[in-house]
Amino acid sequence: MSNVYDQDGLRSIHNHEFMSDPAFLAAYGRGIQAVGGGYGWHWRVYTGLWAAATAAKLPGDFIEFGVNRGFLSSAIMQFLDWNATGRTFYLLDTFTGVDLRYVSAEDLAKGVVEQNEKMIKSGFYTLDVEPVRRNFAEWPNVRIIVGPVPETLPQIDSRMVAFVHIDMNCAPPRSLRPNMSGTSWYPEQSCFSMTTPMTAIVLKSLRLTNSPARRTSGCCRYPLDRGW
Ligand SMILES: C[S@@+](CC[C@H](N)C(=O)[O-])C[C@H]1O[C@@H](n2cnc3c(N)ncnc32)[C@H](O)[C@@H]1O
Repeated sequence: MSNVYDQDGLRSIHNHEFMSDPAFLAAYGRGIQAVGGGYGWHWRVYTGLWAAATAAKLPGDFIEFGVNRGFLSSAIMQFLDWNATGRTFYLLDTFTGVDLRYVSAEDLAKGVVEQNEKMIKSGFYTLDVEPVRRNFAEWPNVRIIVGPVPETLPQIDSRMVAFVHIDMNCAPPRSLRPNMSGTSWYPEQSCFSMTTPMTAIVLKSLRLTNSPARRTSGCCRYPLDRGW
């Protein structure tokens, strides 16, 4: 193992022993299998696995907003021996890239549209859910939900959530906390913690309320209500 970690915009001489840990490498390898190649994401995935293992001490299901081909979520499911957990992993994505209706002015200025086109053109974003379904077929307790967040939130029928990974490469759908409290899908307690710009873990299990009444009154308001 090299004395220096230097990948993915991160250079460190500090401890990166996880790079030779067999359980980590098996999980990382499952991520590679999901996407058909390596992204050089070891540190990110290590952080994600730490968050997932911490969340697994709480009761509740797991959610990923922005699953794409499933690198991180596959690594997590391998790492936690998902079928033995009895939990459901909800995996949400448009499978058409960023939904430009949910991009902020700030994101537009930062070039989210151009980045999205690049990601689609390069094949980094998958436009086909079927290979993704095949990737996750070994784990029956997976629900793949196709469509844009937040419109798809009512399809999450979990009553309790322990882990959320928010990774959609655009800011507004990431702001789920205020959005959840004002629409059809909301936590009774607010206890997200942002660990990286991409990752929110739930510090206490969230009890979710998603009654049909709230579903109709809440979510359809969403595109008009940009106060999130
Ligand atoms: C960086 S990729 C996710 C990578 C993935 N987490 C992994 O571990 O491989 C971002 C994904 O977010 C999705 N996305 C963007 N906006 C979305 C939205 N409003 N609703 C659902 N998915 C969205 C894109 O289609 C893309 O697949």
